[in-house]
Amino acid sequence: MKKRILSGMRPTGKLHLGHLVGALSNWAKLQDKYQCFFMVADWHALMSEYEDAKSMKEYAIDNVADWIACGIDPKKSVIFVQSEVKEHLELDMFFSCITPLGWLERCPTYKEQLKEIKNKDLSTYAFLGYPVLQAADILVYKADAVPVGQDQLPHLELTREIARRFNHLYGHVFPEPEAILTHVPKLLGSDGRKMSKSYDNTINLSDSPSIIKEKTQKMFTDPKRIRLSDPGHPDTCNVFSYYEVFDPKKKEEVHNWCVNAKLGCTECKQKLADALIETLAPIQKKRADILKNKSRINKILADGAKKAGKITQETLSSVNKAVFKA
Ligand code: TRP
Ligand code: SF4
Repeated sequence: MKKRILSGMRPTGKLHLGHLVGALSNWAKLQDKYQCFFMVADWHALMSEYEDAKSMKEYAIDNVADWIACGIDPKKSVIFVQSEVKEHLELDMFFSCITPLGWLERCPTYKEQLKEIKNKDLSTYAFLGYPVLQAADILVYKADAVPVGQDQLPHLELTREIARRFNHLYGHVFPEPEAILTHVPKLLGSDGRKMSKSYDNTINLSDSPSIIKEKTQKMFTDPKRIRLSDPGHPDTCNVFSYYEVFDPKKKEEVHNWCVNAKLGCTECKQKLADALIETLAPIQKKRADILKNKSRINKILADGAKKAGKITQETLSSVNKAVFKA
């Protein structure tokens, strides 16, 4: 029996290089070793986008097209939308009853987001419970493991705590899932800050070659390098870190050219744009093919929800039995 994993992404915008490197390429690799569930976390997205949710459904389809284009294979993995599998919310309610407020108020991601995100009012009932729903997402499949980024570790810890508390109160129902923390190369946005749609510093998987060229040309480079004749410092240059990920064969050469002042930053960024365009070309071709036939995506999601539902219904029946001793 293969071990089971679940992961998810919120449909809040177009996917970018950070999603490819940080999640999708790992998800794609895990598909043979594990029984995989990949979820569009639309309820979680609504928690922050509730004031303007009109594009969310579109982003969901668009994101799934990118997932498939990046190698997530609906024949191997179950791909579905969270809100189409109702048991996530039912289990969320059970967990809400047993999760002490203090666990949620103390959660570092909660405190951080409340402080940092100023353009949205996140002081809502649902947002405090964000990790409870995430625990339900994971445990409703009794997942053994969850591929996530470092930033999600507090949520996984809470998931284990909730599982433990449930099992302690009602008898053993849930496993305590592990994180799968694969090595993820650090990719910053074009301005050197964290790559994020809200900073407008992303290169999207669906960007055309001319947009990629334009965005790449705007990237910040080694600030200590003023003239072409100044030697550069590739190890602290954001552009160079992209070479490490997207054109590792050229990396040594570029490093040499840069420290010996034999390559200008403009040209260096042109070459990088070419490498990005080449990397994304097959993904974009597949994406365009898939998007030509949206009914196929809808069918994949409907099948996914059905397969997911088989498991979640079983879990909820054992949860009801455990809690109500019925
Ligand atoms: N919180 C995750 C994120 O923002 C998305 C998510 C929702 C998730 N439910 C999940 C991730 C369950 C892993 C497992 O990235
Ligand atoms: Fe960075 Fe390339 Fe300029 Fe060197 S040549 S500083 S690696 S952009």
